[in-house]
Amino acid sequence: MALQGDGSPMNIDSELAEIAEFWSARYRAEGFIWGTEASPCAHEAATHFAAADAKRVLVLGCGYGRDAVYFANQGFDVTAIDFATEALALAESWATSGDGAGQIEYVRDNLVALNVPDSAYDAVYSHRTLHLLLTRERLIRAVAEIHRVLKPGGIACISMRSPRDPTREKTRGSAGEDLEVSFRPGHRILFLSNAELGEIAGRCFSTIGQQEMRERESKTQNYDVIVHFLVLGKEADSRRGFAETGFKRDE
Ligand SMILES: C[S@@+](CC[C@H](N)C(=O)[O-])C[C@H]1O[C@@H](n2cnc3c(N)ncnc32)[C@H](O)[C@@H]1O
Repeated sequence: MALQGDGSPMNIDSELAEIAEFWSARYRAEGFIWGTEASPCAHEAATHFAAADAKRVLVLGCGYGRDAVYFANQGFDVTAIDFATEALALAESWATSGDGAGQIEYVRDNLVALNVPDSAYDAVYSHRTLHLLLTRERLIRAVAEIHRVLKPGGIACISMRSPRDPTREKTRGSAGEDLEVSFRPGHRILFLSNAELGEIAGRCFSTIGQQEMRERESKTQNYDVIVHFLVLGKEADSRRGFAETGFKRDE
């Protein structure tokens, strides 16, 4: 257990705690890893959020907030969550720099078990993050959490690294999944086929749209990564949720 910004406990297992440390170390060493411009997925998501008349947007795995800042500048009321302390420290320092990056509530939390009330947001966004959960079980829980915190009729835009992404050496994760090991020691990625991801999302959500998108890996790596970008709708009269995922929330 680790402490969240507001003092309530952040529920996190030891493998995720290691991943949070990995990301903190990267932000400490590399700062604004992807620059301060929003990703192409954020532009696409903002169009969907505006069309759905969303006001309150929750960003999961926000990093230092490049996409959260973009949403805030588009007029959305943004809360942004990450579990890496250095991500939030960088976000706060950017927000207080007077560089147009304010108006966002940053919270330290684990997106697999969020300290967020039910139906609190009109829209949820998560970019290049869910593949870091490393197991299908965590991914299923995270999708159920996204569904839970959305209001009925709410919309989610999520992206995960696509299996069409150039793969590197494979290894086996703690739950037996095949994982890619990237060139960075300690950086592991869960690749699911679009069909597998669609099946998991489809347990709670209806799929509004999906497409492949690309962006540069980072400021220092001059090649593109490919993500699978999904636009998901929570039905207005939805009674689906954790029961359909096969888990109970407090399991
Ligand atoms: C590849 S970075 C992308 C950051 C941001 N979405 C962007 O594109 O600029 C993934 C981020 O997700 C965060 N993250 C990974 N797993 C998480 C979890 N279980 N809960 C909260 N944050 C998580 C990491 O700390 C990291 O900041």
